Order: sequence, then structure tokens, then C-alpha cells
Amino acid sequence: MRVLSVVGARPNFMKLAPVDRELVKRSVEHVIVHTGQHYDHGMSTAFFEQLWIPAPDFHLGVGSGSHARQTADVMQRLEPILVELRPDLLLVYGDVNSTLAAALVAAKLGVRVGHVEAGLRSGDWTMPEEINRVVTDRLSDLLFLPSRDAAVNLAGEGIALERMHFVGNVMIDTLAWALPQAIALEAPARHGVSGDQFAVVTLHRPANVDDPVVLRELVQALKRLAERVAVLFPMHPRTRQRIDSQGLRVPDADGLRILEPLGYLEMLSLVAGAALVLTDSGGLQEETSFLGVPCLTVRPSTERPITCTHGTNRLVLPKRDAILAAAERALARRSPARPVLERWDGRAAERIARVLCDDERFELDVPLAATSPHTPRRAVAIPQPLGAG
Ligand code: UD1
Repeated sequence: MRVLSVVGARPNFMKLAPVDRELVKRSVEHVIVHTGQHYDHGMSTAFFEQLWIPAPDFHLGVGSGSHARQTADVMQRLEPILVELRPDLLLVYGDVNSTLAAALVAAKLGVRVGHVEAGLRSGDWTMPEEINRVVTDRLSDLLFLPSRDAAVNLAGEGIALERMHFVGNVMIDTLAWALPQAIALEAPARHGVSGDQFAVVTLHRPANVDDPVVLRELVQALKRLAERVAVLFPMHPRTRQRIDSQGLRVPDADGLRILEPLGYLEMLSLVAGAALVLTDSGGLQEETSFLGVPCLTVRPSTERPITCTHGTNRLVLPKRDAILAAAERALARRSPARPVLERWDGRAAERIARVLCDDERFELDVPLAATSPHTPRRAVAIPQPLGAG
């Protein structure tokens, strides 16, 4: 069997790593295509090295650009590779532009598509990732679900249950694999913080960093938070560009420390020891929930509601006072125990390989009423952000 995986951006790489290991274990020919959506060493190569992912077989060199150009370039450059190799299955991961572009090319060529991390929905159509999720799922033959709520979302869009496999969360496979190495790194001590009296911040979503008013409010919140605890902020290139272009001053001094994007292990080492994570990332909502670290997600909605209902995550609007109040509450109480989330057990990639190689099924029961395309519904209550109204 020949499986071809397409990845391109930072959050794809930790999802690819365990799948690659499981496929290789079963002697599947696994071809890796890197689109080049992310290209800085710290956003790409560092992850391949730390996660033991083999160097990509093909690199498309797409780089940055508008969504249309990035998507079109991936499509044009991937098509001849798929025509030549004719894989039995194309695997795509998550919700980035490279994912959507690859799924579209394969579907048109009649190549079967498998989507890892299928069925997540924020309900927010202004997010480019939400468009990518919905269209990729529609194009996919095999949908690998990280959580039960994903099945209800998909069924509500009229997608047949036979295409879904509730395999669990591949991000957690990688986290469980890497945690001992990450803790041994002692990144907090290397950054001069300790005793869990520090916060880790990541912010890069267009809704937070592209609007000057919102970005200013967030910078204010970080400065104030840094008076309370040390704040480590590994800054995404998009955020750095926006801060520079708006002439905003973010002092790398006192409690607020601006860092370059960190490698996977170093980031995990910090997050595992933190008192609080403030983020707009999808992956960090999951990682903090697994680790039992309080997380504040600066977004009005989440496509990962179980991190709020069963994990440690809380949504908060990008308002200084709301963030500071929520941070104060989170710092006052650390979760007593790590939450247990169903099938977030380090074996999701193994289940994917069993579906592909052994024709196993990982089914779920979804109430029939949820399968009508006219009655979209959600499996869990929709979390509401703090600071609304
Ligand atoms: C992308 C994903 C987002 C994911 C994020 C993680 C889409 C629509 N968005 O957003 O879901 O959470 O990656 O990082 O696919 N840049 C660099 N160096 C790099 C990569 C990017 O400098 O290695 C700069 C470029 O100037 C680029 C900007 O960052 O214009 C944004 O990169 P892009 O890939 O367009 O989207 P992200 O904001 O990173």
C-alpha cells in the first residue's frame, strides 16, 4: 500500500509524526510531501528533527502569500506528483491551507482522501480554518475523529457514519511520546523561571493580530499580566510583523519576555511547567487540557469544545480587563488532576493504521436525529467566552 501525506504548516508536523511511525511499522510505503507553507527553520525543520520525521520526499516550496495564491500553488505543484505516484490514499491533517488544497487535488484525480482531525467546527465562518475544515471533510472518504462531538457535527452536515472513525487525538500521541524528553530539558529553568509562577503566551490568529485596536488591547493585557507573573511569549512571525508594522512597542523586559518561535520539546517543557497558558492556538487548548494546565483561549468560540467542558480551557474575549480577571482566577487554582479525555491515550495513530491496514472500524453511535443535514446540532454545549456583554 502507498500512502501519501501532505503537510505544510507547524501544527501539521506533530500530527504527522505518530502516523508515519505506525505506517512504517506496518511496511506501508509512506511518501511525505511538504508544501512549504511554513519555511523558517523554527517553524518547520526543527519539528522534523525533534519528532524524528524523515525528511520530506517532495518539497513544494510554496511559501507565504494570499490564501488564494498559497492554495493554488499547492494545487498546481502537487497535481503532477499525485498523477505520477497514484497513491492508494492521500492523508491530510488539521485545517491549514495546505490541507484543503491537497484534498481538492486528490478528490478531482479520484485519489481517496483521509482527513486526520476531522469534524471539528467552531461555527465561525470568518475563520479561514473553518472553511478549510468543512470543505476538506466534504472531500474526504475517511474521516478520523479526535472526539465524539466531531461525529455529531459531521452527521449534521449529512456525512455518512460509515466514513467516520473515532480514533482519538494524534496530537496527544506525540505529546505522550515527547513528554519525558521535554521535562528533562528543564526549559523553565533555562529561561530563568520556575516554581510554576509563570505564564506562556502564543497569539497569531488574524482576528487577534491583524486588527490594530485588538492587538493594542492584547499588548496592554500582557504588560499588566507581566506585573503579576513572568510571561514568556514565543512570537509567531505573523504577530511580529503586525507589531512592527503598527509601531507598537512590546518591551522585552521586566516580566515580559519575547522569544523566537520555540521547538516542540522546548515549548512542551515550558507549557508542562506553567501556571497558565494564554493562547489562540488550537493545539495548545488540547495540550493544556491533557496536561491539566489552566488555559485561557482568546477567541469567541472554539472548534474544540471538550477542552472547555472536560478540560482546563476557558474562552475569553480580547479585552484587557476580561483577560486579567480570568487570569487571576486561573492562577488562584490549578486543576487538581489531569482530565481524562476519551481516546486521548497515545494510541490514535495506531488506530488509524489499523483502519488502513486491517480494515478495522472505530465506530460511534450518533442519534439518528443528528444525521439530518437540515438539523445541524452539536454534541456538547457551546462554551461562551468570558468578557461578553
Ligand atoms: C497557519 C494556519 C493556522 C495555524 C498556523 C500555525 C492557515 C489558514 N492558517 O497560519 O491554522 O494555526 O499556521 O502557525 O493555513 N511566516 C514566516 N515564516 C514562516 C511561516 C510564516 O515568516 O515559516 C509569516 C509569513 O509572512 C506569512 C505569515 O507568517 O505571511 C502567516 O503565515 P501563513 O502560513 O499564511 O499563516 P499562519 O498565520 O502561520
